[in-house]
Amino acid sequence: MRGRARFGREAGLETRITRLLGIEHPVVQAGMAGGPTTPRLVAAVSEAGGLGTLGAAYMTPAAIRSAVEGIRALTRKPFAVNLFVPEPFDPSLYDPQEIGASLARYREELGVEAPGELSYVQSFEDQLAVVLEERVPVFSFTFGVPEGPHLDALREAGIVTAGTATTVREALAVEAAGVDAVTAQGAEAGGHRGTFLGPYEGGLVGTMALVPQVADAVEIPVLAAGGIMDGRGLAAALALGADGAQMGTAFLACPESGAQEGYKRVLLSATEEETTVTRAFSGKAARGLKNRFTEEMEGAEVAAYPVQNAHTRDIRAAAAKADRTEFMSLWSGQAPRLARPVPAAEVVERTVAVASKLVSNRNPERGSGA
Ligand SMILES: Cc1cc2nc3c(=O)[nH]c(=O)nc-3n(C[C@H](O)[C@H](O)[C@H](O)COP(=O)(O)O)c2cc1C
Repeated sequence: MRGRARFGREAGLETRITRLLGIEHPVVQAGMAGGPTTPRLVAAVSEAGGLGTLGAAYMTPAAIRSAVEGIRALTRKPFAVNLFVPEPFDPSLYDPQEIGASLARYREELGVEAPGELSYVQSFEDQLAVVLEERVPVFSFTFGVPEGPHLDALREAGIVTAGTATTVREALAVEAAGVDAVTAQGAEAGGHRGTFLGPYEGGLVGTMALVPQVADAVEIPVLAAGGIMDGRGLAAALALGADGAQMGTAFLACPESGAQEGYKRVLLSATEEETTVTRAFSGKAARGLKNRFTEEMEGAEVAAYPVQNAHTRDIRAAAAKADRTEFMSLWSGQAPRLARPVPAAEVVERTVAVASKLVSNRNPERGSGA
């Protein structure tokens, strides 16, 4: 039998994930590119015994290095850096005038000029070089699997790796590449879909259905992601065969999160009925809260990632600056009602306390200690 969680341990929930990552609790704060994962947030989660993750995909190598230094100034515990695996793209396939036309009204409303030279992505090689040089304890990724030599370099540097999968096929590909752990990202998840084999619609499998199928298929430890916000979710994930949970939306409203105040405000009053999967912001499917932009752009022709992302960048930035949440990408999972504006340590501690209780209460071997 696969190594299972040792349920009901007094100090918490020791699993294969806690042992692999060298952490106390099987709770990973998701890397969230675009600003939420400040060094303060990452360090707070790691200090609380979980694994904080810097969402570094949009950061320059210099900014990643300085954030890593910032995290290390705040904690000596393990943490992760998360990047997007690059995919081939060809901007010449798209007519900039056409993309510009569909976005013109937002530029006008926000007083943003048409973009000049567009920059599409940071160099993955250069970003990864910082991860390797800094010997970051854990490296996680999404949108694919890094090439063999990159994985070899990570292994040689003693860096633990974790990759995202939205189907069993992807989980097997992650495992076959020699990656140490896999995050099974269910359809409930906020942010970009990690799907890299086949169309994203095929990868929209609910967490409840995906996790046990992935857990049955792979030998490596599994993190469940998507709609997990508290101890009930963590206990459910463990019951489904996961070795831990990766949570994103649950940390967005924390005081340490760098999400804009307007984003936090909208998130904290949102309901489960209000998320949608949209390609309008970046060209890649992502789950976020509906707003004027997602509604008006529904059905519009959009370029593929990262071309669309580059075209909407200054619109999103101007909207954030002006607190115009109707034009911001408000990524959120399907359980926004469970987000709390409490310190990140409290999210970790409460999640673990409730999960430990639920798991041990339901384990007839253990009982309540009476
Ligand atoms: C604001 C936001 C940004 C995200 N950015 C990333 C990212 O940069 N890299 C990544 O691997 N996953 C990213 N995700 C997805 C998370 O890894 C995870 O799958 C998701 O948060 C789980 O669902 P939940 O939000 O319901 O907890 C992001 C999620 C959110 C909410």
